[in-house]
Amino acid sequence: MMTNTSREILIAPSILAADFANFGAECEAVEAQGADWVHVDVMDGHFVPNITFGPDMCQALRPHIKTVMDVHLMVAPVDPYLEAFAAAGADVLTVHAEAGPHLDRTLQAVKALGKRAGVALNPATPAVAIENVLDRIDLVCVMTVNPGFGGQSFISGMVEKVRQLKAMTAGRDILIEIDGGVTAETAPEVVAAGADVLVAGSAVFKGGSVAAPEAYGENIRAIRRAAEGAIGIRA
Ligand code: DX5
Ligand code: ZN
Repeated sequence: MMTNTSREILIAPSILAADFANFGAECEAVEAQGADWVHVDVMDGHFVPNITFGPDMCQALRPHIKTVMDVHLMVAPVDPYLEAFAAAGADVLTVHAEAGPHLDRTLQAVKALGKRAGVALNPATPAVAIENVLDRIDLVCVMTVNPGFGGQSFISGMVEKVRQLKAMTAGRDILIEIDGGVTAETAPEVVAAGADVLVAGSAVFKGGSVAAPEAYGENIRAIRRAAEGAIGIRA
Protein backbone atom coordinates (compact mmCIF):
# COMPACT_ATOMS: atom_id res chain seq x y z
CA MET A 1 0.00 0.00 0.00
CA MET A 2 2.84 2.37 0.78
CA THR A 3 5.10 1.03 -1.98
CA ASN A 4 6.69 3.78 -3.96
CA THR A 5 8.57 1.79 -6.54
CA SER A 6 7.71 4.25 -9.33
CA ARG A 7 9.44 6.87 -7.20
CA GLU A 8 6.47 9.20 -7.30
CA ILE A 9 7.10 12.38 -5.33
CA LEU A 10 4.27 13.36 -2.99
CA ILE A 11 3.77 16.96 -1.90
CA ALA A 12 2.18 17.42 1.53
CA PRO A 13 1.31 21.05 2.36
CA SER A 14 1.48 21.79 6.09
CA ILE A 15 -1.57 23.71 7.27
CA LEU A 16 0.62 25.30 9.91
CA ALA A 17 1.14 27.98 7.24
CA ALA A 18 -2.58 28.25 6.36
CA ASP A 19 -5.16 30.75 7.62
CA PHE A 20 -6.01 29.45 11.10
CA ALA A 21 -9.51 30.96 10.86
CA ASN A 22 -10.27 29.03 7.68
CA PHE A 23 -8.71 25.57 7.87
CA GLY A 24 -11.48 23.63 6.10
CA ALA A 25 -11.43 25.84 3.01
CA GLU A 26 -7.62 25.93 3.06
CA CYS A 27 -7.43 22.11 2.95
CA GLU A 28 -9.87 22.03 0.05
CA ALA A 29 -7.96 24.76 -1.76
CA VAL A 30 -4.54 23.06 -1.57
CA GLU A 31 -6.03 19.74 -2.65
CA ALA A 32 -7.77 21.40 -5.61
CA GLN A 33 -4.41 22.93 -6.48
CA GLY A 34 -2.57 19.61 -6.58
CA ALA A 35 -1.59 18.59 -3.04
CA ASP A 36 -1.12 14.83 -2.65
CA TRP A 37 -1.49 14.75 1.14
CA VAL A 38 -2.41 17.29 3.83
CA HIS A 39 0.08 17.51 6.70
CA VAL A 40 -1.33 18.42 10.11
CA ASP A 41 1.14 19.60 12.76
CA VAL A 42 0.00 18.86 16.29
CA MET A 43 2.09 20.67 18.92
CA ASP A 44 1.69 20.34 22.66
CA GLY A 45 3.68 23.23 24.14
CA HIS A 46 5.81 20.66 26.00
CA PHE A 47 7.63 18.47 23.48
CA VAL A 48 7.91 21.56 21.29
CA PRO A 49 7.72 25.23 22.31
CA ASN A 50 4.46 25.95 20.50
CA ILE A 51 0.81 24.89 20.72
CA THR A 52 -1.43 24.23 17.73
CA PHE A 53 -4.46 21.99 17.98
CA GLY A 54 -5.80 18.64 19.11
CA PRO A 55 -7.99 15.74 18.00
CA ASP A 56 -11.23 17.74 17.84
CA MET A 57 -9.68 20.05 15.26
CA CYS A 58 -8.48 17.05 13.25
CA GLN A 59 -11.95 15.58 13.35
CA ALA A 60 -13.44 18.87 12.14
CA LEU A 61 -10.90 18.96 9.28
CA ARG A 62 -11.45 15.39 8.19
CA PRO A 63 -14.46 16.00 5.90
CA HIS A 64 -12.46 18.70 4.12
CA ILE A 65 -9.57 16.34 3.26
CA LYS A 66 -10.11 13.85 0.44
CA THR A 67 -6.51 12.70 0.07
CA VAL A 68 -4.40 11.57 3.02
CA MET A 69 -4.53 13.19 6.43
CA ASP A 70 -0.92 13.03 7.59
CA VAL A 71 -0.85 13.81 11.30
CA HIS A 72 2.53 14.76 12.79
CA LEU A 73 2.32 14.40 16.55
CA MET A 74 4.82 16.65 18.31
CA VAL A 75 3.46 15.46 21.61
CA ALA A 76 5.02 13.82 24.69
CA PRO A 77 3.84 11.56 26.12
CA VAL A 78 2.00 10.55 22.97
CA ASP A 79 0.51 7.15 23.86
CA PRO A 80 -2.50 8.58 25.76
CA TYR A 81 -3.59 10.51 22.65
CA LEU A 82 -3.16 7.96 19.86
CA GLU A 83 -6.69 6.62 20.08
CA ALA A 84 -8.23 10.09 19.89
CA PHE A 85 -6.22 11.05 16.79
CA ALA A 86 -7.04 7.72 15.16
CA ALA A 87 -10.75 8.26 15.88
CA ALA A 88 -10.41 11.78 14.45
CA GLY A 89 -9.65 10.19 11.08
CA ALA A 90 -5.87 10.38 10.68
CA ASP A 91 -4.51 8.15 7.92
CA VAL A 92 -0.87 8.42 8.97
CA LEU A 93 0.11 8.88 12.62
CA THR A 94 3.71 10.01 12.99
CA VAL A 95 5.25 10.03 16.45
CA HIS A 96 8.66 11.33 17.47
CA ALA A 97 11.42 8.89 18.34
CA GLU A 98 12.39 11.31 21.12
CA ALA A 99 8.89 11.57 22.62
CA GLY A 100 9.11 8.59 24.94
CA PRO A 101 11.22 5.63 26.04
CA HIS A 102 9.01 2.96 24.43
CA LEU A 103 8.89 3.67 20.71
CA ASP A 104 8.27 0.03 19.85
CA ARG A 105 5.20 -0.09 22.10
CA THR A 106 3.90 3.20 20.67
CA LEU A 107 4.23 1.88 17.11
CA GLN A 108 2.41 -1.32 18.05
CA ALA A 109 -0.40 0.84 19.40
CA VAL A 110 -0.59 2.84 16.16
CA LYS A 111 -0.77 -0.34 14.08
CA ALA A 112 -3.39 -1.83 16.41
CA LEU A 113 -5.51 1.23 15.67
CA GLY A 114 -5.29 0.37 11.96
CA LYS A 115 -3.24 3.41 10.99
CA ARG A 116 -0.08 3.83 8.98
CA ALA A 117 2.76 4.40 11.42
CA GLY A 118 5.46 7.02 11.03
CA VAL A 119 8.49 7.95 13.12
CA ALA A 120 9.91 11.48 13.03
CA LEU A 121 13.56 12.13 13.83
CA ASN A 122 14.69 15.48 15.19
CA PRO A 123 17.83 16.91 13.57
CA ALA A 124 20.02 15.66 16.46
CA THR A 125 18.62 12.11 16.34
CA PRO A 126 20.61 9.70 14.16
CA ALA A 127 19.09 7.45 11.50
CA VAL A 128 19.98 4.39 13.58
CA ALA A 129 17.17 5.32 16.02
CA ILE A 130 14.70 3.45 13.77
CA GLU A 131 16.91 0.49 12.91
CA ASN A 132 15.17 -1.85 15.34
CA VAL A 133 11.60 -0.82 14.47
CA LEU A 134 11.73 -1.10 10.67
CA ASP A 135 9.18 -3.92 10.70
CA ARG A 136 6.67 -1.67 12.42
CA ILE A 137 6.77 1.48 10.31
CA ASP A 138 5.34 2.75 7.03
CA LEU A 139 7.13 6.09 7.02
CA VAL A 140 10.14 7.87 8.48
CA CYS A 141 10.01 11.65 8.74
CA VAL A 142 13.35 13.44 8.65
CA MET A 143 13.04 16.79 10.42
CA THR A 144 15.11 19.28 8.47
CA VAL A 145 14.39 21.98 11.05
CA ASN A 146 13.95 21.77 14.81
CA PRO A 147 10.21 21.18 15.23
CA GLY A 148 7.92 23.83 16.66
CA PHE A 149 7.63 26.51 14.02
CA GLY A 150 7.12 26.98 10.31
CA GLY A 151 9.29 29.22 8.18
CA GLN A 152 12.70 28.06 9.46
CA SER A 153 15.76 27.39 7.33
CA PHE A 154 16.47 23.92 5.98
CA ILE A 155 19.38 22.20 7.77
CA SER A 156 21.42 20.84 4.87
CA GLY A 157 23.37 18.41 7.05
CA MET A 158 20.19 16.29 7.11
CA VAL A 159 20.65 15.23 3.47
CA GLU A 160 23.23 12.66 4.57
CA LYS A 161 20.69 11.25 7.06
CA VAL A 162 18.18 10.84 4.21
CA ARG A 163 20.83 8.93 2.27
CA GLN A 164 21.47 6.65 5.25
CA LEU A 165 17.74 6.01 5.72
CA LYS A 166 17.30 5.24 2.03
CA ALA A 167 19.96 2.53 2.34
CA MET A 168 18.54 1.26 5.64
CA THR A 169 15.00 0.95 4.26
CA ALA A 170 15.95 -0.55 0.88
CA GLY A 171 13.51 -3.25 -0.21
CA ARG A 172 10.89 -2.23 2.33
CA ASP A 173 7.59 -0.35 1.88
CA ILE A 174 8.74 2.62 3.94
CA LEU A 175 8.33 6.17 2.66
CA ILE A 176 10.90 8.81 3.51
CA GLU A 177 9.29 12.15 4.36
CA ILE A 178 11.08 15.48 4.72
CA ASP A 179 9.70 18.16 7.02
CA GLY A 180 10.98 21.72 7.42
CA GLY A 181 12.33 24.39 5.14
CA VAL A 182 11.37 22.52 1.96
CA THR A 183 11.32 24.81 -1.10
CA ALA A 184 11.91 24.40 -4.82
CA GLU A 185 15.57 25.16 -4.00
CA THR A 186 16.03 22.61 -1.20
CA ALA A 187 13.79 19.81 -2.61
CA PRO A 188 16.18 18.49 -5.31
CA GLU A 189 18.97 17.42 -2.96
CA VAL A 190 16.69 15.56 -0.55
CA VAL A 191 14.85 13.86 -3.39
CA ALA A 192 18.14 12.85 -5.00
CA ALA A 193 19.10 11.40 -1.59
CA GLY A 194 15.90 9.33 -1.41
CA ALA A 195 12.95 11.42 -0.19
CA ASP A 196 9.43 10.42 -1.29
CA VAL A 197 7.15 12.84 0.57
CA LEU A 198 7.89 16.56 0.83
CA VAL A 199 6.11 18.50 3.57
CA ALA A 200 6.03 22.21 2.84
CA GLY A 201 4.27 24.97 4.74
CA SER A 202 5.49 28.45 3.87
CA ALA A 203 6.67 27.46 0.40
CA VAL A 204 3.16 26.26 -0.57
CA PHE A 205 0.98 28.89 1.11
CA LYS A 206 3.09 31.96 0.28
CA GLY A 207 1.39 34.51 -1.94
CA GLY A 208 -1.98 32.76 -1.97
CA SER A 209 -5.27 32.55 -0.07
CA VAL A 210 -8.59 30.75 -0.27
CA ALA A 211 -9.78 33.66 -2.42
CA ALA A 212 -6.69 33.44 -4.65
CA PRO A 213 -5.61 29.78 -4.52
CA GLU A 214 -3.79 29.73 -7.88
CA ALA A 215 -0.57 30.68 -6.09
CA TYR A 216 -0.82 27.43 -4.10
CA GLY A 217 -0.92 25.53 -7.39
CA GLU A 218 2.05 27.41 -8.80
CA ASN A 219 4.02 26.83 -5.61
CA ILE A 220 3.21 23.11 -5.52
CA ARG A 221 4.13 22.71 -9.18
CA ALA A 222 7.41 24.56 -8.68
CA ILE A 223 8.41 22.21 -5.84
CA ARG A 224 7.27 19.14 -7.78
CA ARG A 225 9.12 20.21 -10.93
CA ALA A 226 12.33 20.82 -9.01
CA ALA A 227 11.98 17.53 -7.13
CA GLU A 228 11.19 15.42 -10.17
CA GLY A 229 13.95 17.11 -12.17
CA ALA A 230 16.42 15.82 -9.58
CA ILE A 231 15.54 12.20 -10.37
CA GLY A 232 14.95 12.56 -14.07
CA ILE A 233 11.15 12.53 -14.10
CA ARG A 234 9.80 14.94 -16.69
CA ALA A 235 6.76 16.96 -15.64
C1 DX5 B 1 7.65 22.13 12.04
C2 DX5 B 1 6.53 21.40 11.34
C3 DX5 B 1 6.55 21.56 9.87
C4 DX5 B 1 6.35 22.96 9.41
C5 DX5 B 1 7.03 23.14 8.09
O1 DX5 B 1 7.62 21.79 13.38
O2 DX5 B 1 6.58 20.03 11.63
O3 DX5 B 1 5.58 20.69 9.26
O4 DX5 B 1 5.01 23.32 9.26
O5 DX5 B 1 6.94 24.48 7.74
P1 DX5 B 1 7.91 25.13 6.67
O6 DX5 B 1 7.66 24.40 5.39
O7 DX5 B 1 7.46 26.55 6.63
O8 DX5 B 1 9.30 24.95 7.17
ZN1 ZN C 1 5.29 18.59 10.45
